Amino acid sequence: MTDISNTSAVRGFARMCNDGWLQGWHERNGGNLSYRMTEADIRDCGAAFTYDRPWTPMGVADGSLGGSHFLVTGSGKYMRNVSEDPEGNLGILEISPAGDAYRIVWGLRDGAKPTSEFDSHYLCHVVRAAATEGMTRVMYHAHPANIVALTFVLPLTASAFSKALWQSETECPMVFPSGVGVVEWMVPGGPEIAEATRQAMARYDAVVWAHHGLFTSGPDFDSAFGLMHTIEKAAQIRVLALAAGQGRLRQVIPDEGLKQVAETYGRKLNESLL
Ligand code: 13P
Ligand code: ZN
Repeated sequence: MTDISNTSAVRGFARMCNDGWLQGWHERNGGNLSYRMTEADIRDCGAAFTYDRPWTPMGVADGSLGGSHFLVTGSGKYMRNVSEDPEGNLGILEISPAGDAYRIVWGLRDGAKPTSEFDSHYLCHVVRAAATEGMTRVMYHAHPANIVALTFVLPLTASAFSKALWQSETECPMVFPSGVGVVEWMVPGGPEIAEATRQAMARYDAVVWAHHGLFTSGPDFDSAFGLMHTIEKAAQIRVLALAAGQGRLRQVIPDEGLKQVAETYGRKLNESLL
């Protein structure tokens, strides 16, 4: 019998959930994670898939990733419990050919459901796969405190956030040279916030949700986790500096310096945000 919990996909996924928990980004059931499985992952796991659960309509539709399989966290599940019990807290979804429904083929035991943010995850996978020639496989949502704190004091624009974060730690222009998008406050968990996030994700590999959290993406668990970590660290430095300076920053990295950092590492800074 195939032990899906022991495959490299599930082990990498569970490790990332636990790493986010240890960072303090996942109070209660906060945050969620999805991974678009490779052909090899599906070969590893497929023998244990079952097809007795019904198709469930999604709130969004896009056929470009129809037929894909996603490993996802369950709605209301706690990141801290994933590694203890993958089958109870995670599931594998098969997407319908039209990309408008899913069925659970493994996990999410006892009637559990996929994350309430699956509409956002799915549309973000669609646009990031298109933007990266299919390389993007991981979509990560977390509630890190400092990036959320900045949504109370900075204008809610990609330009204000990208520039503030780039200026706050020297490596930021190298790690996310395209910048970060921002979605204004919206009720979470449905097609409306999914569509707004899709529009931002078409241009950026990370998107801030005002007064809520952050979405990051990447080709693998390391890069999506590392992007979350880098952005939150830069936000923390900004918050500390703003607090220490009572809202006034005496000096910052100059715009020319931001461009040079990106260039030094072979990246191109999105200068339209400066
Ligand atoms: P889920 O438990 O449904 O994944 O929701 C958590 C969350 O962070 C909602 O934005
Ligand atoms: Zn959330």
